[in-house]
Amino acid sequence: MSSGAWDRVPIAAQTIEATLSQFATFLVLDIGPGDDDLATVRDTISGIDDLLKTVGFRDLSARLSCVVGVGSAAWDRLSPGHRPRQLRTFPAIDGGKNVAPSTPGDLLLHVRAERSDLCFEFVRVVMNALGGSVTVVDETTAFRYFDARDLLGFVDGTANPVGPELTEAALVGDEDPDFAGGSYVVVQKYLHDLSTWASYGADKQSEIVGRDKADNTEHPDAETGQKAHKTLATLEVGGVERAILRDNMPFGRAGSGEFGTYFIGYAGNVTVTLTMLRRMFLGDPLGMYDRILDVSTATTGTIFFAPSADQLASLGG
Ligand code: HEM
Repeated sequence: MSSGAWDRVPIAAQTIEATLSQFATFLVLDIGPGDDDLATVRDTISGIDDLLKTVGFRDLSARLSCVVGVGSAAWDRLSPGHRPRQLRTFPAIDGGKNVAPSTPGDLLLHVRAERSDLCFEFVRVVMNALGGSVTVVDETTAFRYFDARDLLGFVDGTANPVGPELTEAALVGDEDPDFAGGSYVVVQKYLHDLSTWASYGADKQSEIVGRDKADNTEHPDAETGQKAHKTLATLEVGGVERAILRDNMPFGRAGSGEFGTYFIGYAGNVTVTLTMLRRMFLGDPLGMYDRILDVSTATTGTIFFAPSADQLASLGG
C-alpha cells in the first residue's frame, strides 16, 4: 500500500511495524476442542481487518491496530501440513534461581491504539464474534508510562531497529518463502518487586540495565564478568548484530501492589529471541545471569506466529 493510501485510512491488519501507542491490550486465548470452535475462530481471525475498520474508523487519529498470532498446536489445526519452519512451543528455561516458564496459548491479539477505549471496544467486538469458541488464558491491559519508561523507571525500546533494519529483523524473508512477511512473536509477562529495586538506588540500577536512568545514555559494554541487561540482550552472529523488534508495555494495579512489564518481541528468526533469553536467564558467562531478574519474575512464556495479512485472511479457508 502506498503511504498516501495508508494516510487516508490508517487501518490494516497485521501491522507489526505500527507506531508506538499510548495503550495496548495483550489477549491470549485457547481455542475450544470442537470443529465448530475452529470454524468460528477461522471466520473471526480471517475477517479481523473488517472488525478493525468497524472500531478504528470511529477515530482514525487513535490509530487502532491489531496483530493476530497463532500458537504452534493451533497452527496445525488451522492449516494442517503447512507450517512456518520455526514455529514451536516456547522452550522453558530453568536457570535454577530464575525460570522462564512455558505457558499455553493458541491465539494472541496484540491490540494497540492512542485511546484505551478503542482497545477495549475492539477486544469487546472480537470476543463477541468468538463467543464460546475460545477461553481467555490472559488479558493484560497496558499503558505507555511517561517517556516510554518501564515500571523499573528506564526508557525502554531505544535500541529497537528502525527503517529497513526493522523489516529485516522482525519479518520472515526468503528463507521460508511460503511464510515471508510473517513474524515470530514471543511474549512474557513479568512481575516486578519494586521495593527491592528502589532499594538499589539509581546508580546500581543503571549498571544493571546498561543505560543511565536519568538521560538514557548507554554505558560501555563489559567484556568480562557481570554484563548489563542491554549487553546480555545484544546478540552478534559472525560479527553482525541480530536484532528483534520489541514493544514492551508497563501494566499494573498500584493499589494491589502489582507492577509489571509485558515483554513482546517480534523476530523473523525466533532463535534470535530465544538466544537472548538464554543469555539473560543462564548468563554469559554461565551463572552471571541478568540482574534485572532478581526483581522480575516471568509468569508466562509463549511463542506465536503472526502471518502476513494475506495469509491470515486465507486461514478463513
Ligand atoms: C534493552 C528493559 C526483557 C531484549 C532494554 C532496555 C531496557 C529494557 C530498559 C534499554 C533500552 C532499550 O534499548 O530498549 C527490559 C525489561 C524487561 C526486558 C524491564 C523485562 C523484565 C527483555 C527480554 C528480551 C529483551 C525478555 C529478549 C528476549 C532487549 C534488547 C535490548 C533491550 C534486544 C537492546 C539491547 C541493545 O542493543 O542495546 N531492555 N527488558 N529484553 N532489551 Fe530488554
